Order: sequence, then structure tokens, then C-alpha cells
Amino acid sequence: MSLKDADKEFVWHPYTQMSDWDKWNNRVIVKGEGFYLIDSESRKYLDGIASMWCNVWGHGQNKVVEAMTKQLKNLQHSTLFGLASGPSVQLAERLVGLARGMDRVFYTDNGSTAIEAAMKMALQYWRNKGRDAKIEFISLEHGYHGDTIGAMSVGYIENFFGAYKPLLTRVHRAPSPLLYKSRFEDERDLAEWCLEKTERLLKKRGDRFAAMIMESGAQIAGGAIIYPAGYQRKVAKLCKDNDVLLVLDEIATGFGRLGSMIEYLAQRSEPDIVCFGKALTAGYFPLAVTLTTDRIFNAFLGKYSENKHLCHGHTFTGHPVGCAAALANIELYEKRNLIQQINANTRYVASRLLEFARSPIVTDIRHKGLLAGIELARNNKPIITLKNKERINYFIMQESLKMGVHLRSLGNILMVIPPLAIGRRDLEKLLDVQLEILRKVERLS
Ligand SMILES: Cc1ncc(COP(=O)(O)O)c(C=O)c1O
Repeated sequence: MSLKDADKEFVWHPYTQMSDWDKWNNRVIVKGEGFYLIDSESRKYLDGIASMWCNVWGHGQNKVVEAMTKQLKNLQHSTLFGLASGPSVQLAERLVGLARGMDRVFYTDNGSTAIEAAMKMALQYWRNKGRDAKIEFISLEHGYHGDTIGAMSVGYIENFFGAYKPLLTRVHRAPSPLLYKSRFEDERDLAEWCLEKTERLLKKRGDRFAAMIMESGAQIAGGAIIYPAGYQRKVAKLCKDNDVLLVLDEIATGFGRLGSMIEYLAQRSEPDIVCFGKALTAGYFPLAVTLTTDRIFNAFLGKYSENKHLCHGHTFTGHPVGCAAALANIELYEKRNLIQQINANTRYVASRLLEFARSPIVTDIRHKGLLAGIELARNNKPIITLKNKERINYFIMQESLKMGVHLRSLGNILMVIPPLAIGRRDLEKLLDVQLEILRKVERLS
């Protein structure tokens, strides 16, 4: 059986209506080369969404692979339960050096579980302090934090998670500072309004809230919503004033996506807990981290019999190969001045977005760093299906693959979210293809 046929027969794909998949010309990727993915029929696709926003350097050809191979030959895995491992110690030291204000690193193996660990830390912190009433969470509308139970609760999206509601915990929601279609003209007024609402919630239920959880700098899955200047800093202050922990999710926005290595530092907003994942290993290994301060960590100290310690851990927690990948990745960020390159490419993206802005169906563009969301609408209504009844996101994915690029839109929002170290020529190609797809949607909508 060919790989394509076997895929149709045996694999269940995420977020995919599998009855559609049968009709789909499925591509099976068998190789990566630079920023390109190559399928079983030798076709090449530019990795236009950085393999779900995590790829940094492209595929299969750099120091990260060497470091992982070396680690694999030396020690493929040993647990952090009762033992330490060299790479996890070195990486923790490195991360604490980068993430100013943080003192401790807890390892998990994907973004969602990093959020679960953060939520458990927040809950138990208050319990260990004897503040048993602080058991609720507050998060932002349009937030997304992953697909596990706690993460779905704080990043609840009805369309995705409605069926799983019975599993979820109740979470209070503060408004997200999305200017598009709001009643505000100026984002500062909107931010003030959001902050007032957030403050009211925090004041009203502060004695019940364990933590506020939000993405750092921008909400990506919620539609590339970029926070107005000063907003996050003020939220952090509100949390502090109301004795509510702040958990920042930098899984998608940290490590350069928005132009800064550590986004909360750029936002001048110190969290109590922060999560990183995705680009942490440049997309080479599933690894995520939950960092926190000594203030939180110390509340977990005591005698075993007091049961104050954190009861969380996975078989692959702090996997040495993942840690070796992350260490090599961070070294490359510095050696190759990646943040500077991202900022130069950011200016290029901004100049190209002006071409998109001229389209009659582009109603809003939100951009920061190597992230942009281009909102497509007609007669003030989001374009969900095209004239031929095809769903727009399906059309964009199909068309882009035909044109040698892998793209995935967020419904009617065309996303620009390339691998972070993408070169200028590939970035140009990516934007050219996106512009061409936009022209096709113009004709078909
Ligand atoms: C902000 C944010 N948090 C958490 C996650 C979940 O990460 P993972 O898919 O690695 O579980 C994602 C994934 O897209 C994300 O964008």
C-alpha cells in the first residue's frame, strides 16, 4: 500500500473532518530541506506556517541536529523522578538567565501540559499558603492555551471544545483588547475599557481567584490579536494589587515571534509563572517549560507528610534530547543574531502588508514581529465560504499546496507566521503566494 493510501486507511488527523480527508489529495511529508517540506511524490512545499508555529531554522540541517544526535548516542533518556539529567540542568540555568525574574524551571513535553502544570502550581500555591478559597481562574476572551482539560477550560473556544464542556472547570473571562469591530476608534480607549472590566472582576472575586492566565504580547489562535502598548504591564499590576497570580503563556509568542526573545520583558510585565514551548527546541523535539519565581517555589517546601510538593510529572519530563536541542537552539539565536534578523524581516513584512491592505476584502490587518493576521470580509461579514460553497480555510490550504506553500488560515483570517529564521527570498515567495491567494479569494467571494 502506498503511504498516501495507508494514511487514509489508518491515521486520524487532528482538527480534521476525516470524511473530507478521503476526498483530499493528501500529501505525506517524507523529508525536510531548509524551509521546505518534501512529500512522497517529491513535491516541495515552503513551510509557510512553521509546522504549527514552532519551526525556527528550517529542517534537518544545523547544529541542533548535531547536538541531539550527540545526546542520543550518549544518553537517550533518563527520568527526572528521583534523578537529574545533565542537559535539563544546563537548560534550566540558561532559561533562568534569559527569563529575568524567574528562578525555577519545571519541564513538560508540550505547550498544553506546560499550562496544566502552571494551573496546578497556582492552585496548590494558595492551598499550601492556607488560602483554600482561591481555586478559580480568570482568563481572556479569545485566548487559546492548548487542548488538555485545564488548558481548554482557560482557553475555551465553543466551536472547538463544546463537546468536552462536562470535563471543564468554570473560568471567568475578561475582555480581550481586539479593536476590530469593537465600539472603540482608539486602541488606548479600548485598552482602558478592558482594564477597567478586568479590574472590576479581580476586585470582585480576587479572594477566589488563584491566577489570571493570558497569552503574552498577543493572542495568536484567537485571531492574531496584538495587545496595545502598556496593556499587559497594567494587567500585571492589577493582578499584583489584587493578590492574584499572573500566568503568562509565551508558548507561541516567546522566543522571537513578536520580535523579542522574552516577550514579558519587552512588555515590562513580570509574571509569577510563565510557559514556553514551540520554538524552544526550534521545532526539533516536543519540550515545554513552566518557569516560576522563588516566591511560588518556596511555598511548596516542607515535609513529605505535609503533601506540599507538586504532584505533576510525565514519563518524558525534561527529556535530555529535547533539552540538548533547546540548548543548541538558544546558542544559535545568539550566534546568528536571530532577533535582529527577525526585526529586519518584520519591517519587510510591514512594507508588503501595504499591498494586502489595498484589497477590497481586507478589512483589518494586525501585525507584530513575524506574525500577521489579515481579516477577510465582504459587506462587513467574515468570508466563511466561497461562491462554490467551499470553506475558505480549506480553499486556502488546497490552493497554497498547489502553489508549493503550506498555509493554514484561522477561518477567514489569513495568517503570516513563517519559520523565524526564514530568509528574505523565501519570505518574499511566501508573501507573493499569499497575495495571489488573496486575489483568488477576491474573485471567488
Ligand atoms: C498560546 C498557546 N498556548 C498553548 C498551546 C498548546 O501547545 P501544544 O500544541 O504544544 O500543546 C498553543 C498551541 O498552539 C498556543 O498557541
